[in-house]
Amino acid sequence: MPPAKTSVVAAAAAAAAAILIVARLRRRRRAPPSGLSSRPAKPDDYAALCALDAISPTHGGHSLFDVRLTRASREGVQKVLVLCEGGGEALAWGTVLLEPKFLRGGSCVAHLHLGAGGSAARRHALLARLCAVAQRAGCYKAILDAPPFKADELAAAAGMRATQQTMRRALPSTVPPAPVGPFALGGPAAAAANTAHVARAAAASEPVQHLVEFAPQLLGPPGSALGGMRLRALRASDGPAAFLALLAQLSVAPHINAADFAARVEAARDAPTRAVLVVERVADGTLLGCATLAIERRPLAPKGAGVGGRLEDVVIDAAARGTGLGRALVDAVAALAARCLCAELTLNCKPHNAPFYEKLGFEWSAACFAVYFDNNETPTVERRGTPGAA
Ligand SMILES: CC(C)(COP(=O)(O)OP(=O)(O)OC[C@H]1O[C@@H](n2cnc3c(N)ncnc32)[C@H](O)[C@@H]1OP(=O)(O)O)[C@@H](O)C(=O)NCCC(=O)NCCS
Repeated sequence: MPPAKTSVVAAAAAAAAAILIVARLRRRRRAPPSGLSSRPAKPDDYAALCALDAISPTHGGHSLFDVRLTRASREGVQKVLVLCEGGGEALAWGTVLLEPKFLRGGSCVAHLHLGAGGSAARRHALLARLCAVAQRAGCYKAILDAPPFKADELAAAAGMRATQQTMRRALPSTVPPAPVGPFALGGPAAAAANTAHVARAAAASEPVQHLVEFAPQLLGPPGSALGGMRLRALRASDGPAAFLALLAQLSVAPHINAADFAARVEAARDAPTRAVLVVERVADGTLLGCATLAIERRPLAPKGAGVGGRLEDVVIDAAARGTGLGRALVDAVAALAARCLCAELTLNCKPHNAPFYEKLGFEWSAACFAVYFDNNETPTVERRGTPGAA
């Protein structure tokens, strides 16, 4: 090769190497600024959090914030954290929602949310702490839904990479939360616990919201093909094989023995903010689909928008696809979420599934960044939250 060509090739190789090094450095986790700490949010943080999110504090908003913090703490699956200096005023805030998965043997996914305000450095520091909370809770993965470009650097600093996209469907606010009764997405234990919760709330004159009883429902009119299918909560008696065979069509679904499966189903049935649902063919009890609804509290949202639904792990068995069952399943979960007073239903999906959700009224809303932890601890959130726990 002539010397001129050699030097051009060498220069190109050096430039490529430099680009790679810069990209790697940018991707490397940035150490959070020192002197900052995080703590669970307190009712007194309301005004500071409103200022960070540039919203006007109101008296009613303050009491709702208080109720939502108490509820999130009691349920034990969502942590509301603030970043501060020496335990003082909030400088940034965010939440971690822990969602146990049957995929990955029951380990949790953490859904992270960052409040709107705070400087870039503080948001970086907070995101690092939210990830640390997720990792300590035994999560195998943390997810952040955020607008791309703006969040690219932030997510990269926490070791997160854009993996999927977030789709959103607004839910009608006019749906009555009927029948009024305990928030019993789960089974009898959830019903009993929530009856007690309702009584406590009534005694304390707190507003009682999100009260829905979930009964199995037919997915279509009686006599129609979809009328032969019903949506109900997963039961221990379904056994792991049928359910995991569905999940295995979505991702790697490791074996779970019958006893572990039964324990996880019981825990899911007791969870006040999560419903693991299956589509069953009524005639022979075959499971043909599944989906999970997880409920996320939004501490600062205005009245009526304080709860968001997350749609997870949607699968229709390969043999039953293309018959409208997926649409019926998602619509039924959306209706259930609306009755739980969710203002919207969001989900993360790969781009090839986006057209399916678009047909069902969802719109692209954000990029989805994820980080995986080398973490196989047993999740702790299946135990109901203890009062006062952050
Ligand atoms: C995605 C999935 C749930 C769809 O279920 P399904 O029962 O086949 O869907 P439906 O028959 O109800 O289809 C509803 C509409 O969406 C369309 N549709 C279904 N899958 C589609 C896709 N991947 N891309 C574009 N359109 C799609 C159908 O053609 C139908 O359109 P129409 O109303 O105009 O006739 C199913 O294919 C599945 O389980 N896939 C594997 C697991 C998975 O990827 N889950 C999604 C995780 S985010």
